[in-house]
Amino acid sequence: MTAQRVQAIRVQGLEKSYKELQVLRGVDFEVARGSIFALLGSNGAGKTTVVRILSTLLKADAGSANVDGFDVATQPANVRESISLTGQFAAVDEILSGRENLVLVARLRHLKGPGKIADDLLERFSLTEAGARKVSTYSGGMRRRLDIAMSLIGNPPVIFLDEPTTGLDPQARIEVWQAVRELAHRGTTVLLTTQYLDEAEQLADRIAILHQGRIIVNGTLTELKQLLPAAKVEYVEKQPTLEDVFLALVGSDGKDGDASSDAASTRMSKEHR
Ligand SMILES: Nc1ncnc2c1ncn2[C@@H]1O[C@H](COP(=O)(O)OP(=O)(O)O)[C@@H](O)[C@H]1O
Ligand SMILES: [Mg+2]
Repeated sequence: MTAQRVQAIRVQGLEKSYKELQVLRGVDFEVARGSIFALLGSNGAGKTTVVRILSTLLKADAGSANVDGFDVATQPANVRESISLTGQFAAVDEILSGRENLVLVARLRHLKGPGKIADDLLERFSLTEAGARKVSTYSGGMRRRLDIAMSLIGNPPVIFLDEPTTGLDPQARIEVWQAVRELAHRGTTVLLTTQYLDEAEQLADRIAILHQGRIIVNGTLTELKQLLPAAKVEYVEKQPTLEDVFLALVGSDGKDGDASSDAASTRMSKEHR
């Protein structure tokens, strides 16, 4: 990796509470331009809260955040022009075809040549053959890919993917991973949140673990693995996995035992269906 001086995202001392529930207690991290950064955390850790603040949908209580050089609190319109956000639910229209969805968004954004934009994106995300079909016939992976393709219309330099593969089957996950790699390959900065360790391991240049309101570690996969003592002699070839690192840091149940936040998490995961 070449050293990149310019940061696409800078987050300093971010705090956010929902009434009594203190979700973010001082979150700091930076994301280098053109890199894939994974914000890893258990259900209810506050990942979506971070993404909502960075995408100007939610105001932080304290701290600052900068996206593509713009302050989320004082320059929200500029931030919104620099980003796209893909949530856990595909925001595509079922009745339209994949191509029609793309053309529609390109038109809404007043871009020239919406047909060509749509065709290029279909090709980039291996949806050319399915392009003319109604989205209602698509698999979960195809929908998610179309959703990512739609969010790229207008070429935003920074893209937020909030749990892009939650609820997808293994094959579809791999397809979405391909799509994410493709994004970074073209220079888009990707901030993705995930509760899947293997997803972070597969995709991210850097991984930050969000736990009990703070980033408890932040580094490359290699750096994170070095946090654990070297493997024992009897496991000559065994390297710690990210899962070993995560569980050692967070504890094996991954929760902080806060009953109210557990109840809230259950509600969240229901909503996610
Ligand atoms: N609008 C809200 N009002 C009250 N509590 C919320 C709200 N949004 C999220 N929470 C709670 O804040 C915590 C963090 O939520 P979230 O950021 O969605 O976590 P994650 O995305 O990591 O699963 C959870 O306990 C969740 O229930
Ligand atoms: Mg979430």
